[in-house]
Amino acid sequence: MGTGYVGTTTALTLCELGHQVIGYDVDPLKIASLQNKNLHFYEPGLKDLLVKHLHSGNIRFTENIKQAVQQSEIIFICVGTPQNDDGSANLEYVQQAATMIGNYLNNYKVIVNKSTVPVGTAEKVTKWIHDSMVSPIQYDVISNPEFLKEGTALADSLNPERIVIGSHSEKATDKMKNLYSKFKTTFVHTTPQTAELIKYAANSFLATKISFINEIARLCENVNVDVKDVAFGIGLDSRIGSSFLQAGIGYGGSCFPKDVLALLSTAQQNNTNLSLLEKTYSINNTQPFYFIEKIKNKLKDIKGKNIAILGLSFKPHTDDIRESPALKIIEELYKQSANIFVHDPVAKLPKILSQKITQIHSIHSLPENTDALIICTDWPEYETFDWLQVKQKMRNPYIFDGRNMLNASNMTKLGFYYDGIGYRQF
Ligand code: UDX
Repeated sequence: MGTGYVGTTTALTLCELGHQVIGYDVDPLKIASLQNKNLHFYEPGLKDLLVKHLHSGNIRFTENIKQAVQQSEIIFICVGTPQNDDGSANLEYVQQAATMIGNYLNNYKVIVNKSTVPVGTAEKVTKWIHDSMVSPIQYDVISNPEFLKEGTALADSLNPERIVIGSHSEKATDKMKNLYSKFKTTFVHTTPQTAELIKYAANSFLATKISFINEIARLCENVNVDVKDVAFGIGLDSRIGSSFLQAGIGYGGSCFPKDVLALLSTAQQNNTNLSLLEKTYSINNTQPFYFIEKIKNKLKDIKGKNIAILGLSFKPHTDDIRESPALKIIEELYKQSANIFVHDPVAKLPKILSQKITQIHSIHSLPENTDALIICTDWPEYETFDWLQVKQKMRNPYIFDGRNMLNASNMTKLGFYYDGIGYRQF
């Protein structure tokens, strides 16, 4: 239930494992699109698998909830859990899904919470199903959080580093073990509450790693050290690990910002002060503005300057712009009356911004007299641009690399003024 990133990827992974899957969504347009072999979002490799399994017959999509529920042994709830105004997770769609399951339950089923949901949600789902059941039927609700990343969703889902199953029922656990029996990975068996917290703690820890290195990057700039060297040097310690130590303009996306706030909200509701996580959040919120300050110091006045933004999505290999730090940078520069041009290989400006800002489809369409380029997303193709040609279009050959992706000394040799995050200026 729910055919977004998580739902569609999970469905196709289960097809690869040899299972029969029915995809259901409340949105008929999404169902029609998937039936027509089209994804309604961009995710490398997923479309091929969709075509393959529509053809093999392992997957079908339906708008008929009664059929979807009654013909399934295991039901995955993969709906969105957006953010409430107070930062907590909104369980409205989860509740809707649970109610529909309850309405049509016809025999024993395992209901799996795949969506990222706060501690205690499995209990709530159990109750919502119970309250909407027509006649008493046995069922179990378990938690099986998903750890896939956008952009590499398929590879992550097909090669999980662990499978967490939070369940109070042996019968349900056995069914899940059976479902995933082809996976050679570590199975973590816990209570549903523990599984729910594992998911939030994992995302919050990764977000904290990023904010940590971003704060160290600020220090690096003041003590003439390159944060990339620091990240490399500490990352070789296996206790620290090298991933998620890339300094930049901060984390975005549909998960980290929302999940950090939701965990803070859970902590508050349970009289716990997560002060480290509060800092993670505030460092991330200020990071784009910290970067803009550096740009302002160099350009002196932003007003009327032609500024090109390279990258709109919250990270490469996705068209997702939710909570993208690029948007914060664009909005701030717009407020300061810059002329902004945006490039992204796949992501599009939201409607509200596209009325005010120009999106260019090729770097060659850069305006004459460009004053600065700001890299907001580390799309690999930015590494291989013909930078000399780009330089010819620029009044001021200034590059501000918000993802530290380019080779600073090469760019300097080409005649650019180059600045990154936590970068030592020569
Ligand atoms: C994340 C989790 O990684 C995944 O396990 C969970 O299931 C969903 O949330 P995702 O949001 O797809 O996945 O993106 P991820 O690759 O984790 O990146 C999140 C953000 O952090 C991006 O904006 C990225 O640019 C940023 N990031 C990542 C950094 O700034 N530095 C890093 O070193 C790594």
